[in-house]
Amino acid sequence: MRRLIVAGNWKMNTLKSEASVLASKIAGRSGADEDIEVVLFPPFVFLDCVRETVRGTPIAVGGQNVFYESHGAYTGEISVEMLRDLGCSHVLVGHSERRRFSGEKDNNINRKIKQSFSGGLIPVFCIGETQRERKAGETEEVLNRQIVYGLEGIGGTEIESIVIAYEPVWAIGTGISASARQVEDVHRYIRGVVGRFGGGRAASSVRILYGGSVNPSNAAGLLSKENIDGVLVGGASLSADAFCEIIQAALDVRALKEAVS
Ligand code: PGA
Repeated sequence: MRRLIVAGNWKMNTLKSEASVLASKIAGRSGADEDIEVVLFPPFVFLDCVRETVRGTPIAVGGQNVFYESHGAYTGEISVEMLRDLGCSHVLVGHSERRRFSGEKDNNINRKIKQSFSGGLIPVFCIGETQRERKAGETEEVLNRQIVYGLEGIGGTEIESIVIAYEPVWAIGTGISASARQVEDVHRYIRGVVGRFGGGRAASSVRILYGGSVNPSNAAGLLSKENIDGVLVGGASLSADAFCEIIQAALDVRALKEAVS
């Protein structure tokens, strides 16, 4: 059984004191255990503080972005080694907001994924179609292209450990989540594309998260689907109560899945 992941993407939110309070409330109340993965993605500048706050709990910490070179004259960039040094285990790569506002391109995303693997970070590779692309019936074509470029030159064993986050752009921050059924269909498609790349083992072990207006009311429905291996939560991850409810939904779904397996 694939381990469920509940990830919180704080984006460009919180000040230091708020980040520390949010992390400590989540650490104190989440009830997260080793059987599901909880990962927090605070802004870079609070990674150290959040990591210290959750130390000794099963909660992991990751960066919201990373650069594709290891060090040098790249003003304003952050390396994989720097993230590792702060205790990060994960990193978001290719989030649609970076594609949209920071000119992130598929070839750089591919380099970032490779760099993350070579430095020992697990990339959470974000893909997703826009509203216009979905309406034009291009969802699969867009996702296929993003995956083909993103995973180019990456071996099967690495693909087994990558995390893919399917985040339809039209569902992010809009309050309009894709339905569990829509997501399940897309995830099955993504698993097929991954299989073409990395083989059957990679297809069955890769974890595919859904992101886009996930909240405590829709989390359980999403997580109970066979091919939805977790959620990447934006807005609702800024409330400790809401985020902990989503973690609880994942714990309940896992218990249920275990009971029937
Ligand atoms: P949202 O964001 O939950 O606020 O829609 C999700 C994301 O962008 O990761």
